[in-house]
Amino acid sequence: MTHRFSGRTALVTGAGSGIGRGVALALAREGAQVVVAGRRRDPLDETLALIEGEGGKGLAVTADVSRADDLHALVATAVDRFGSLDVAVNNAGILEGRGKAVGDLAEADWRRMLDVNVTGVFLALQAEIARMRTQPDGGAIVNIASRLGVHSRLPGAAGYTAGKAAVSVLTRAAALDHIADGVRINAVSPGATATDMSFRDGESEADRAARMRTEVPLGRVSTVAEVAAAVLYLASDDAASVVGADLVIDGGSTA
Ligand SMILES: NC(=O)c1ccc[n+]([C@@H]2O[C@H](COP(=O)([O-])OP(=O)(O)OC[C@H]3O[C@@H](n4cnc5c(N)ncnc54)[C@H](OP(=O)(O)O)[C@@H]3O)[C@@H](O)[C@H]2O)c1
Repeated sequence: MTHRFSGRTALVTGAGSGIGRGVALALAREGAQVVVAGRRRDPLDETLALIEGEGGKGLAVTADVSRADDLHALVATAVDRFGSLDVAVNNAGILEGRGKAVGDLAEADWRRMLDVNVTGVFLALQAEIARMRTQPDGGAIVNIASRLGVHSRLPGAAGYTAGKAAVSVLTRAAALDHIADGVRINAVSPGATATDMSFRDGESEADRAARMRTEVPLGRVSTVAEVAAAVLYLASDDAASVVGADLVIDGGSTA
């Protein structure tokens, strides 16, 4: 068992479910105290209970990533409680309005997707960088983009795909802007991963498994643990010279 994050404080947005919960647990298992954030309190408390049940330490804080005030308060709370912010994983995201062509997509739905998936990452970066750049050891940030961004094509999902492409590009821009401040920024772009988000409407687990056998060269979804392993690598000192990378974990879908 390695403990790459002992004594470090990590923040994970969207940590009440799916990939965010898996990343939060993996960070705690490797010694981090983990601040878990999202809009709904109950799922965050469940994640915190899982962390504490394994002997880890953390804190649950409600925050909406589309609100700058929430993000600054979140970082301040993490630092007040644990003394620093060393790792941040900007994972919160939504996938809504699938199946609508661009010509039929409501402006409000387009704006909402970008507000959470892009501006949410931008605002989180600002709050996190503001703290990390003042610390002697800086910090490491991992943004969760998607293979459906710059890496592949999917009709009927323009709000999501354009937003995730923006997260990949924003990651590169922010990485270049802030590596001299000691803040190392990278992205992970998952393909279909074993969470609720990867189900099509009305699909069962067996349906999804059958679809994966034809859509994904590996023949299956990625597990949350596999995506979390990539996030932890980029957040750790093992990746000390990795800056502005966008690590695709998609079973070969974009190979
Ligand atoms: N699963 C996949 O196949 C896949 C593939 C590629 C990329 N991704 C990306 O991976 C990330 C995690 O997705 P997932 O599959 O784990 O889905 P998920 O279970 O739906 O997780 C998304 C999380 O984000 C939180 N969230 C949503 N809007 C928020 C907001 N405005 N402020 C704060 N938190 C918010 C949600 O909690 P609340 O509702 O309580 O806020 C939820 O816990 C997303 O960015 C997604 O786009 C997923």
